[in-house]
Amino acid sequence: AEDKRATKERIAELLKAQDAVLVAHYYTDGDLQELAEETGGRVADSLEMARFGTETEASTLVVCGVRFMGETAKILNPEKRVLMPDLNATCSLDEGCPPDEFAAFCAAHPDHTVVVYANTSAEVKAHADWMVTSSIALPVVQHLAARREKILWAPDRHLGSYVQRMSGAEMLLWDGACVVHEAFKGFALEQVRALHPEAAVLVHPESPDAVVDQADVVGSTTQLIRAVTEMPNPEFIVATDAGIFWKMRQLAPHKTLIPAPTAGEGATCESCAHCPWMAMNALQNLERVLREGDQEIRVEEAIRQRAVRPIQRMLEFSA
Ligand code: 13P
Ligand code: SF4
Repeated sequence: AEDKRATKERIAELLKAQDAVLVAHYYTDGDLQELAEETGGRVADSLEMARFGTETEASTLVVCGVRFMGETAKILNPEKRVLMPDLNATCSLDEGCPPDEFAAFCAAHPDHTVVVYANTSAEVKAHADWMVTSSIALPVVQHLAARREKILWAPDRHLGSYVQRMSGAEMLLWDGACVVHEAFKGFALEQVRALHPEAAVLVHPESPDAVVDQADVVGSTTQLIRAVTEMPNPEFIVATDAGIFWKMRQLAPHKTLIPAPTAGEGATCESCAHCPWMAMNALQNLERVLREGDQEIRVEEAIRQRAVRPIQRMLEFSA
């Protein structure tokens, strides 16, 4: 604990000396979330992370999260230096949507409006009309459906299916999934619910339909955290990455939080649902990158100019 304190203090000094600010996602280690808050940065969901990057005055943004979050920050703020603890922190959705194949998919359906999830590369975003995050995917698609637009959606097929069912929009879905949320199982969740009849079920929409169908609240990380603080239930079953429990416990220490089961038999396991790429962010590599200045996000200007439009459209829609 003594060591950790000292490391955090050194990082705080480095941030100050470099006019840098930390923004951390709710799935990262609690130490990073705490440090972000203690040093004038913030912890956020993906939409708020994008907004924070444009609102802060700091000339360096240090993004603790996964690569698409760093890229989005850079696309919106080309004049800022954007660092990450480890640029190899990717995402199964991003990896499952190669830009060339995605470009061919778009070219085959020129009459469709292209909506991509934030969890994609800058190159994929460059092909899109809209970018959305989980917190705003449904309102955006409802808006497009009201205008009778046909939608090409990528890459998360579970979020796509949820949005399609809720909006009635005509949608073609790319076949991608989040390795963390895909592991939640509907049948096992039924068993856990039977043991906890008072519990509200909170589900991130990257989860399979059979899990989403049992939810009391479906939403982004921020929306699920808000549900824990606002709903009267004493217990919550939570189907998302275990990193989220740090903030939930901080804001609602007296509530009982039960991780949704990732395997059969109704067993729950708190560390089972944890993103291996989010876990690549740690105090040690954060300190190192602040000293060495490597792991800097770069986005080719021609790509950036195309990728910024779908992101800006979302920010304007959500304003
Ligand atoms: P949100 O924070 O927008 O809910 O994003 C979830 C996610 O999977 C980020 O990797
Ligand atoms: Fe990607 Fe899933 Fe990890 Fe989020 S939790 S970064 S969607 S693999």
